[in-house]
Amino acid sequence: MSILVTGATGQLGALVVEKLLGTLQASELAVSVRSAGKAAELKAKGVDVREGDFTNSASLEQAFAGVERLLLISGTEGDRFQQHKNAIDTAKKAGVSQIVYTSLAQADNSTLSLAPDHKNTEDYLKESGVAFTILRNNWYLENEADGIKAAAQGAPFVHAASSAKVGWAARRDYAHAAAAVLTSEGHANKVYELSGKTITHDELGAIIADVIGKEVQVQNLTAAAYDERLQGFGLPEGVAAFVTGFQTAIGEGALDVQSEDLEKLLGRPQQPLSEVIAAILA
Ligand SMILES: NC(=O)c1ccc[n+]([C@@H]2O[C@H](COP(=O)([O-])OP(=O)(O)OC[C@H]3O[C@@H](n4cnc5c(N)ncnc54)[C@H](OP(=O)(O)O)[C@@H]3O)[C@@H](O)[C@H]2O)c1
Repeated sequence: MSILVTGATGQLGALVVEKLLGTLQASELAVSVRSAGKAAELKAKGVDVREGDFTNSASLEQAFAGVERLLLISGTEGDRFQQHKNAIDTAKKAGVSQIVYTSLAQADNSTLSLAPDHKNTEDYLKESGVAFTILRNNWYLENEADGIKAAAQGAPFVHAASSAKVGWAARRDYAHAAAAVLTSEGHANKVYELSGKTITHDELGAIIADVIGKEVQVQNLTAAAYDERLQGFGLPEGVAAFVTGFQTAIGEGALDVQSEDLEKLLGRPQQPLSEVIAAILA
């Protein structure tokens, strides 16, 4: 079995590769990265490092040659849907037998601004004729790192999502679930909602308080007040509006997904959020 991971010099991809190297020989694993220089450590371990950029199909042709299972980690910038289409088309041409794609919670029915790229990619992948596995990742707890660090310094833990629940989990857990899918059978043409146990921001604030050993004030702001606060920290207007939009969508339940899929793929409980918070603060 030849497995290739894209985005392996990113945070999620690096954790997937680390997990895979625990069970596979390095020679069974290839990565596609934008800059081979950034993956020198993997190359030194014997991983087949290839260069591929989603915006450049010719580079992907070389990168995906001879691969059976591909983990397509969603991109971060530019026209992501077009980039994912390039990757899917090239993988199909190269004879890849299964594409595993990292999507977003409830991508087909989410008010998050990030969702349309994911929904379009999911649809395109499903129609490609290549066996697919869709990993609809909920929110990384690490997304809250700044707020957690500020709370540890005595600031309120601020959000604008009222009492909506979120399925936070460690980035590492999403990575390990992806590694499990890549190295086991029975996942063809499946869509998994990978979600931690859903909790509110108040409940997360209580976990932070337990970890730091002092009270945390959780503040639920209006979207306008949240936006104004971000701009007060120096975020440009457009960026502040983009981030505030996440809070509004979360408040509408975009990340309130109850699913056992994550723990089933992990074969263990999710990493306790208290441990992730402690690691963020370490
Ligand atoms: N569910 C969540 O809470 C959440 C949070 C953040 C992100 N995400 C999504 O999940 C993905 C993985 O997260 P992460 O934490 O690993 O993000 P990350 O650390 O920013 O890594 C993103 C990876 O995508 C690669 N990439 C970006 N544009 C590319 C292109 N045109 N061609 C090839 N590769 C490209 C980057 O390559 P380089 O290493 O060369 O920069 C990097 O390796 C993100 O890309 C994003 O789509 C989800």
